[in-house]
Amino acid sequence: MKPPSTREVLLAALKSARGRWMPGDVLCAERGISRAAVSKHIKRLRREGYAIESFAGKGHRLVKAPDTVRPEEIRQDLGTRVFGQGDIVYFTETDSTNSQARQRAEAGAAEGTLVVAECQTAGRGRRGRAWVSPEGAGIYLSLIARPRISPAEAPRLTLLTAVAAADAVIAETGVPVRIKWPNDLLVDGRKLAGILTEIRTEMDLVDYVVIGIGINANTPETSLSAIRDQKCTSLWIETGNRIDRASLLRRFLSEFEACYETFLTEGFASILTRWKAHSAIIGEAVAVDVAGTTHRGRVKDVEDSGVLLLEDEQGKTRRIFSGDLVIEH
Ligand code: BTN
Repeated sequence: MKPPSTREVLLAALKSARGRWMPGDVLCAERGISRAAVSKHIKRLRREGYAIESFAGKGHRLVKAPDTVRPEEIRQDLGTRVFGQGDIVYFTETDSTNSQARQRAEAGAAEGTLVVAECQTAGRGRRGRAWVSPEGAGIYLSLIARPRISPAEAPRLTLLTAVAAADAVIAETGVPVRIKWPNDLLVDGRKLAGILTEIRTEMDLVDYVVIGIGINANTPETSLSAIRDQKCTSLWIETGNRIDRASLLRRFLSEFEACYETFLTEGFASILTRWKAHSAIIGEAVAVDVAGTTHRGRVKDVEDSGVLLLEDEQGKTRRIFSGDLVIEH
C-alpha cells in the first residue's frame, strides 16, 4: 500500500469531520501537517472545485466535494487489499484507459494497478466499437490483473467482472440491472455498462489481463441518444439523481476483488451461480451474431468456461464462444 500524500491526509481529515469545523491546530498536531501545507493545499483544493470554508478561531470545513474520480476520492475508505491500493493512474482526459493500462502492463505494472479517466477521446468497446465517454459523466476504468491461470480460463474474468459490477450498481443505487451474455449490464434492455477484457499470454499461462469497464453513471440522454446500434441508459436517467461516481467505483473495486479472490482460491462455481442469477438470458429466445452469421435458438445454459449453449428448433445444441446476442421477444 502506498503511504497517503499530505493532500490525501488533509482531505481525509476534512471528510471525516462530515461538514463540521476542523480546527487548524488539530490538523497540525494530530495529522502532522504544517500550517503552511494546510493553507497551500486548501487553496489548491478550492481551485479544483472543493468548497472549503475557513474561519479564524474555528478552522476549516468541507462543505461540498466535486464529483471526480481522482485518486484521493477513490482511496477514501477503500476496503480492498490490492486493487486500487497501489498505483492509481489518473487522467482528466486520455485516449482509452485500456490502451493506457496495456502500455503499463507491458512495462511490468503490478497487479492491482488502476487506470481511470474523467474522459476518453478514443474509448473502445468490443468488436471495434467506440465507447462514448463524455467528461465527468461516466466511470471509465481499467484494472491490471496477473492471475496464474491458463488462457482458457480467462473468459471467466469477464463474467466475474460483470457479477461484481452488477452487485456494485444494485448495492449503490438499487437499479435492477441484469447481465446479458457475455458482459453487458442492461436495465430493461437498455445498456448501462460494458466490459472489455484484453489479455496477453506467455506459453500456456496468462501474463496479464487488462479489464476495462465503462459505466454510464451521470451520462446525459443527449450523449447516449447519439449511439445508433444500441439503446443505452445511465444511472442518472434511471434514478433521476446524479450519483457519486467515486463511491460506486470503490464499491465496484471491493466487489471485484472479492470475486477475484473467490475465483482464485475456491474456483468459479459460486461466481457462475451468481452470474446466472443476474443473467437475463437463460431460457430466452435469442439471436447471436457470430462473425456475420446469425444463430437463432433458446439459451440452454452457460458453461463453466463462459461458453453459451444455444438450442435450435431441431433440438440441436451449439456451443458459442463469442458473439453479439439479441433477446428476441
Ligand atoms: C463493450 O460493451 O463493448 C465494452 C465497453 C468497454 C468500455 C470501457 S471504458 C474504460 C475502458 N477503456 C476503454 O477504452 N474501454 C473500456
